[in-house]
Amino acid sequence: MYEISTKELFLWITEIKNRTKDIDALYLLLDLIGGITKSDLILLKINSHEKVFLKINFHYLKKKWIEHIQLSKPIQYISGSSYWRNFKLEVTKDVLIPRVETEQIVEIAKYIIDSEDKKIVFADLGTGSGSIAISLVEENRNWIGLATDIDINALQIAQKNHQKISLESNLSFYCGNWWEPLINYAGKINLAVSNPPYIPRNVYEKLPSSVKDFEPKRALYGGDDGLYHIKQIISDAPKFLVKGGWLILENHFDQSKVIKNLLRENGFDSLKTINDAFGVGRFTIGRYK
Ligand SMILES: C[S@@+](CC[C@H](N)C(=O)[O-])C[C@H]1O[C@@H](n2cnc3c(N)ncnc32)[C@H](O)[C@@H]1O
Repeated sequence: MYEISTKELFLWITEIKNRTKDIDALYLLLDLIGGITKSDLILLKINSHEKVFLKINFHYLKKKWIEHIQLSKPIQYISGSSYWRNFKLEVTKDVLIPRVETEQIVEIAKYIIDSEDKKIVFADLGTGSGSIAISLVEENRNWIGLATDIDINALQIAQKNHQKISLESNLSFYCGNWWEPLINYAGKINLAVSNPPYIPRNVYEKLPSSVKDFEPKRALYGGDDGLYHIKQIISDAPKFLVKGGWLILENHFDQSKVIKNLLRENGFDSLKTINDAFGVGRFTIGRYK
């Protein structure tokens, strides 16, 4: 632990606040790298402690902030960690920083699956850091999870995150193209969730450098219309889902109508667009007839 004066820390925070609008990033840096949460800061103010303990040297913390500002590098990649739901996950350049919007997939899954006493087999296609799959098995101990990713490095991070968070062994990891590595589960999957790469070319090209220069293109880019991967996932779904099994997809704000048509053409009903907290039609769900 590195001791500094509280006054010195607050002076630096005020100085940064005067220069940037990116206050959330500053709090994230203090938390993930410095080991000081927002609540710690409030308590420090109230109790007027003279000293504060940082997880790293203050000089080093300041350097990390400069790295963030100069390169537009997300704090999560600088610290190698990210919060998601109630977890702290390891993230590297090989995985997408799990987004807060995606947290809703876990709620949708819990809402549509009536799992009282049944063993549910679910697949998380393109698991990345493992965020969705880990949450689902942690919150539904009788569910069996299968997490896939084409990127072996991403899959290793997901496995590491699972080992750190959970003592349960009800989640397995498979490397390969979407459903392909799950051939032994053909016709046995009750639920599949996926936040696939769905960003269309014209949008991808204009992404801010904090995303384009640091997050894996493979995790974001969905071809010319953004639907390249979604089409593959939907067309192979009937082979893997049980009759009555659900597919939940995250999508770009303008893709849900097309996705519903694709689902219908591939034997799905109970089609629905679900809005995220900002009113964007971010999720499309359907049930295999
Ligand atoms: C948008 S990220 C989602 C990551 C994580 N599920 C989340 O929500 O934060 C998409 C993921 O799909 C993976 N992916 C891309 N192409 C794939 C493919 N053909 N088969 C399987 N996974 C793929 C990427 O490596 C990436 O981890």
